[in-house]
Amino acid sequence: MASLKGKDILHGNQFSKKDIDVIIKTASNFEKELKGKDSLTLLRGKILATLFFEPSTRTRLSFETAMQRLGGGVVSMASAESSSAAKGETVADTAKTVSQYADVMVIRHPRIGSAKEAADAASIPVINAGDGAGQHPTQALLDIYTIYKERGSLKNLTVSMVGDLKNGRTVHALVELLSLFEARLYFVSPDLLRMPEEITSHLKGKGIEIVETEDMMEAANASDLIYMTRIQKERFTDLSEYERVKGQYIINEDFLKRLKKKVIILHPLPRVDEIAPGVDSYPGAAYFRQVRNGVFIRMALLAMVLGKR
Ligand code: NCD
Repeated sequence: MASLKGKDILHGNQFSKKDIDVIIKTASNFEKELKGKDSLTLLRGKILATLFFEPSTRTRLSFETAMQRLGGGVVSMASAESSSAAKGETVADTAKTVSQYADVMVIRHPRIGSAKEAADAASIPVINAGDGAGQHPTQALLDIYTIYKERGSLKNLTVSMVGDLKNGRTVHALVELLSLFEARLYFVSPDLLRMPEEITSHLKGKGIEIVETEDMMEAANASDLIYMTRIQKERFTDLSEYERVKGQYIINEDFLKRLKKKVIILHPLPRVDEIAPGVDSYPGAAYFRQVRNGVFIRMALLAMVLGKR
């Protein structure tokens, strides 16, 4: 594959099938190397900057954990309010500034295209940790790694994506990766929150089979995997619309009982009410394993963009 050294990670569509194989292998090697150890020394002396202009628990902490497990250091800006963005500094100027301190940066920002703006201005690799309702490519890679580990293969997959397909950046990135493996896709959402037309038509153009439906049970019974998502309340301009669509899709013990087959359940988290806590002990509930896999994927990505793998 083309090396990731010095590259930005901005969009799910930037990866080839071969790239994904290499990233999975690298993550899996780190997972093995780390067994029985607190940390490695591969990135000793390197510094990661994390810039989060939107809330985050997993993405920021797993990047910071990944960097520290590789022996590197972290500087962090945890909120827009506590940074010069509050004084009106542009994303480009912030990215130029951070390039003077760190060797790689991870950015999350509410505007689509903001990570690309940062990457154009920065002189170090920029990793998109979510640009509004746009993309979230590192989440998609950890989702793929999880699917690979749970199933043992990425071949012959049928996936149901459920919830806010309009605003969910994780699904926007994940469909790009799944399309490389010719997965069949069920898009399950309220009509208001359907997958954007430009994404479905782009996927169909690549020969991907897509079924759009509002019936989660029908889709789940035809799938190997359910990818559940949160309704992205923060993206609604009209909160009465949110009230209208929330709570429509819920996986609970009763749903599992009525399901005709065992499925793997993923969720990028955080969940609100779309997966009942009682589902966590179901063997197919993989969302906390998915969280853990995020650390190994992010170790792989940091080592690769810094030219150490
Ligand atoms: C997701 C996000 O921020 O897009 N969270 C995450 O990174 N794991 C999903 C969400 O917020 O619903």
